[in-house]
Amino acid sequence: MRASHLEEYYEFLRYPSVSTDIEYAEKVTECAHWVVEKLRRIGLETKLVPTPGHPIVWAKNKQQAGRPTVMIYGHYDVQPPDPLDLWDSPPFDPVLKDGYVFARGATDNKGQILSHIFGVQEAIEQNGDLPVNLHFVIEGEEEVGSGNLGNFLSQNKEELQCNAVVVSDTGMVGRGMPTLSYGLRGITALELKVESARMDLHSGVFGGSVANPITALARLLATLHDDKGHVAVSGFYNKVKPLEDWERKAWRQLPIDGDAEILKETGAPALFGEEGYSTLERIWGRPTAEINGIGGGYQGVGTKTVIPSYAMAKLTFRLVPDQDGDEILKLATRHLEKHLPPGVTMEITPGHSGPWYLTDPHSALGKAAQRALREAFGKEPALIREGGSIPIVSQFRSILGVETLLLGLALPDCRAHSPNENFPLENMDAGIRLNKAVLTELAKS
Ligand code: BES
Ligand code: MN
Repeated sequence: MRASHLEEYYEFLRYPSVSTDIEYAEKVTECAHWVVEKLRRIGLETKLVPTPGHPIVWAKNKQQAGRPTVMIYGHYDVQPPDPLDLWDSPPFDPVLKDGYVFARGATDNKGQILSHIFGVQEAIEQNGDLPVNLHFVIEGEEEVGSGNLGNFLSQNKEELQCNAVVVSDTGMVGRGMPTLSYGLRGITALELKVESARMDLHSGVFGGSVANPITALARLLATLHDDKGHVAVSGFYNKVKPLEDWERKAWRQLPIDGDAEILKETGAPALFGEEGYSTLERIWGRPTAEINGIGGGYQGVGTKTVIPSYAMAKLTFRLVPDQDGDEILKLATRHLEKHLPPGVTMEITPGHSGPWYLTDPHSALGKAAQRALREAFGKEPALIREGGSIPIVSQFRSILGVETLLLGLALPDCRAHSPNENFPLENMDAGIRLNKAVLTELAKS
C-alpha cells in the first residue's frame, strides 16, 4: 500500500469523532471537514450537509446518463474509547504493529470506508473516471442510530436514486475469507431508573424500612430471561421468522469453528445462550435482550453504608425479521411494569432504534457482489447474516427503494467498540481491490 494512504489513514484516525458525547462535537465536525477535503482532492464534487446533529459528507463524480448509479455509504463517527486503561496505546494515536493498525475506528468504520475512497482515487487516477455514477454518503451519527440521515435521504430522494448501495461496515468470517452479509439484526434501546427514597439513606438507621432500589432492579432485570436463555418478555418471539433450512445448512458448512473462535476471542469461560440453536445461529438469526449498563449506589473505595436512592440500567434488544421495534418496546415496557418489585417507582425512557434488514444473496445484485468478492479475494464468498445493526440500511430500501450490498472487511478479532480496536493493512488493500471490482461489476448491471 502507498505510504500516502497510510499517512492519510492515520490523519483520519487521529480525530476523536465520538458521536455520542457532546464534549467531542467539535472534533466530530473537524473530522467531517477532513473527509470533505479528502474527497475533493480525489476529484469529487463534495459538500458538507449540516443536520440538527453531526454533519453528513456527500460527494459525487460527474453523473452521466446511461450508466448505473451506486451509492457507497459509511460513517466517520466512532464509539467512545473507554475504558482507556485497557488500551495498549492511546486510542486516537494510531500505531502499526505486525501489519495491524490499532486505534478507535481503525475498523469501524474509518479503515473500511477509507479503503473505498482509496479505491475510487486510484481508479480515477488510472482511468480519469469511474465506470458508474457514484455517490459517497458518509455520516457522523451511525453509532447513535442515524437519527438525521433518513431526512437527508427523503430530502434528496431524486438525486440519490441509485441501483445499489454498497456498505463495508460488517464482518468477514475469517482472515482472507470474503463475506457477503445478507442480513442485519435490528435494535431498540431503553433506559430505566428505579427509585425509592428522595436521597441516599443511612443503611443502619433506615435499613429494613424501605426498599433498596438496587435489589429491586436486580430482581427485575433477572426476569428478562428464563433459565434456558430465552427472553421471557411475553410475546417477544411472536413475529420471529424461523431460519431457512438453506442458511442453517450453509452456516454449518462454513470452514470456521465459530464456538472455538468466540471462546478464544472473548476469553469467556463458556458459551451461553438460547437453547436449540448453534452459536452462530444465535448471533446472526435470533433476537436477544441485553443489559448494557447498570449503576447506582456507592462505587468508590472502601465501604459506605447507604441505601441508595436510585438504580439505573440501559437495555437493548437485538431484533430479527419480522419483529417490530416499537412493538418490542411496548412489550418490554409492559413486562418491566408487571415485574417491578414493590416499594419502588420506575421511569422508562426509550432510546434509539433501527429495523433489521434481510435481502436475497442470490438475486442479480447479490450475484454481482459475490463475483466482486471472488475477484478481490480469489475465494468463494461466505454468505452470512450479521448480529450487528446498521439502522439506516432498511431506510435505503424504504425511502430510496434500493437494496444494500454488505461487503464487510472487519475481522472477528478486530475489537470494534472495545479497547485495542485494530485493522490489518491487508484488509485495506483488499478493500481497495474490492471497491474497484464491485464498481466494475455493478457497471455491467
Ligand atoms: N459496524 C457496526 C455494525 C456491525 C457490527 C455490523 C458487527 C455487523 C457486525 C456499526 O457501526 C455498529 O456498531 N452499529 C451499532 C448500531 C447501534 C448503535 C444503533 C450496533 O450494532 O451496535
Ligand atoms: Mn460500530
